[in-house]
Amino acid sequence: MNKDLAGPTAPVTGAADLAGRTALITGATAGIGRATALALAGRGARVIVHGRDRERAEATLRRIEEAGGSARFEPADLTRPAEVTALAERAGDVDILVNNAGVFHFAHTADTDQTTFDTHVEVNLRAPYLLVQALAPAMAKRGHGAIVNVSSGAATTPGHGTGVYGATKAALESLTRTWAAEYGPAGVRVNAVAAGPTRTEGTAAFGDAFEAAGRSVALGRLADAGEIAAAVAFLASPSASYVNGTTLSAVGGLPAHG
Ligand SMILES: NC(=O)c1ccc[n+]([C@@H]2O[C@H](COP(=O)([O-])OP(=O)(O)OC[C@H]3O[C@@H](n4cnc5c(N)ncnc54)[C@H](OP(=O)(O)O)[C@@H]3O)[C@@H](O)[C@H]2O)c1
Repeated sequence: MNKDLAGPTAPVTGAADLAGRTALITGATAGIGRATALALAGRGARVIVHGRDRERAEATLRRIEEAGGSARFEPADLTRPAEVTALAERAGDVDILVNNAGVFHFAHTADTDQTTFDTHVEVNLRAPYLLVQALAPAMAKRGHGAIVNVSSGAATTPGHGTGVYGATKAALESLTRTWAAEYGPAGVRVNAVAAGPTRTEGTAAFGDAFEAAGRSVALGRLADAGEIAAAVAFLASPSASYVNGTTLSAVGGLPAHG
C-alpha cells in the first residue's frame, strides 16, 4: 500500500489488494475520478487515467507516480461514440472499470435545451453503456472483473433543476442491476455508488448554494472526493467479492423531517 497515495480519507486496507489489476477510470482528470485513481493506485492497480484535459491529466499522473504508483493517460471525448470505443480498444484488458465521468448542468425542465439534454445522455449514460459493451465480455471471458458506476442521490431524490441529470443517473443504476445479472454468472461484479454533494472542480462554481446542500444531509457537510473514492474502491476490491448489483449510498444520510 502506498500511504502517500491514500490521502486523508482514502481506504486504509494495509494490503495491495489490487496489485496486478488494470483499472480504467473515466473522468480521472478531476474531482471524484482523480481521487478514485489515487485510491486504486494506492492499492496497487495500474491505472488508466481518462479525460480530455491533458494538463489536468498530467497532474493526476504526477501524484500517482510521485507516490510510486503506475498510471497512463488516455484521452477521449465521451460525447463522441467513436472516441469511446477507440478508448476501450486502447485500454486493452481492463480488470476494473469505473464509469465516473459525468456532466451536471442544472436547469428546470422548461429551461433545458436539447443540447443540454443530449450531452447528459451522451456522457452520463451512453458512454458507460458503450464501455461496458466493449470491455465486460472480455472480463467475463477471463472470469473476473469489477465495474463501478458513479451515480448520484439525484437518481432517487428530486432536486431543483436536476431532472435530466437525475434521469441519466437513475438509468445508470438500472443498468447496474441489469449488467450485474448479465455478467455476474461469469464472475464480473457490477455496482454503483450514489454520491452526495461533494467538493470537486466541477462543483466549485456552485458556491454558497452548494454549501447549503452539504448542510442539508444528515452529516451536515459536503463530502470530500476521497470519501466517495473510498466507497468506489471498496466495491472495486476483493473486499466486496459477494456484492453485486447494488447501489451503495454515500449521500451523507437523510435528515429527519418534522
Ligand atoms: N461532485 C458532486 O457533488 C457529485 C455528486 C453526485 C454525483 N457526482 C458524480 O460524480 C462524477 C464525478 O463528478 P465530479 O464532481 O468529480 O466532476 P468534475 O470535477 O466536474 O470532473 C468531471 C470529470 O469528467 C470528465 N468529463 C466531463 N465531460 C467529459 C466528456 N465529454 N468527455 C470526457 N470526459 C469528460 C472531465 O474531464 P476533463 O476535465 O479532462 O474534460 C473530468 O475529469 C460524475 O458522474 C457526477 O455526476 C458528483
